[in-house]
Amino acid sequence: MLDQLNTLEQEALAQLSAITTNDDLVAWQGKYYGTKRSKGALDEAMTLLGKVSKEDRPAFGKRANEVKQGLTAAYEVKKGEVSRLELEAKMRAGAIDVTLPGRPVQRGRLHPSTQNLRNIAKIFAQMGFEVYRSPDVETDEMNFELLNMPPEHPARDMWDTFYTNTPGVILRTHTSPGQIRSMRELGGNGTKPIRVILPGMCYRYEQVTARSEMQFNQVEGIAIGRNITLADLKGVMGEFGRRMFGGDGQIRFRGSYFPFTEPSVEVDVYLGTATPQARMLTKGTGWLEISGAGMVHPTVLENGGYDPREWSGFAFGMGPERVAMRLHNINDIRNFWANDLRFLEQF
Ligand code: PHE
Repeated sequence: MLDQLNTLEQEALAQLSAITTNDDLVAWQGKYYGTKRSKGALDEAMTLLGKVSKEDRPAFGKRANEVKQGLTAAYEVKKGEVSRLELEAKMRAGAIDVTLPGRPVQRGRLHPSTQNLRNIAKIFAQMGFEVYRSPDVETDEMNFELLNMPPEHPARDMWDTFYTNTPGVILRTHTSPGQIRSMRELGGNGTKPIRVILPGMCYRYEQVTARSEMQFNQVEGIAIGRNITLADLKGVMGEFGRRMFGGDGQIRFRGSYFPFTEPSVEVDVYLGTATPQARMLTKGTGWLEISGAGMVHPTVLENGGYDPREWSGFAFGMGPERVAMRLHNINDIRNFWANDLRFLEQF
């Protein structure tokens, strides 16, 4: 009978020493100490007590207790060992290799058109122009009438217009109504000089093509003072061209027509043909068109609150997307608002 106890003890210890996981340990415990549903091997061994002769009973009972206590002690030791092993394994599995390169963080960025507008604003700020804003939704009066285009004026055909359901309210076709607003709001009833640029979206009811969108930005500029001449316009445009594109800042005016300027011009900046970049931007001519411009028409000065006998000024309106297209060799203006990441991520 004692032999059976000894065998049980040896088996149990041998199995216990081979165990490395908590699952196996739980199974071992169930096998020897029993579970809710089944008796354990140790309990079974105790039932042998009834079969042992009276004189051998004390020795058997003593031995049985020793075995039980021994196994319990061994179990506790093993339990500590297993939980340490499992913790180590877990730490190894979740280990961080601090020598690995970090994952790149996807960062947002400014839209190329916004970047471009900021560059333009920065250059004009260096020349003393403040940024001024005027609304996208305009009145017919601001967009046309006060710019020297009464109703039925044929020049209105130059701007195909989006009308709203409210009579007299339209989406601005150019930033030029900002000329009137800035003169009226900043000019102190025709007593103060002003020097502002007005960047913003314009809208035209036009066929969308690679060259023209039905919405696009313009940067209007206006400077009003006592002795402003066409030479000032030329100087500012030349300086802008040089700072934006490089080159020597030469300017070429081509005669043009706008109802709100007199004389009216279109402005080309000279980039030359020395570099491949300059040849590409100018299609080999050396000249890049950047803006419509002119001296503010006396009627428009009056509409802005100024006396045209004392005050004069120049205005210009450039297309920043055109500038960016030339600068970055973008061949389709539709890219700007198509929201294609392959395009946007290049900037
Ligand atoms: N508003 C004109 C356009 O949209 C450009 C312009 C602005 C011309 C200011 C002269 C002076 O074409």
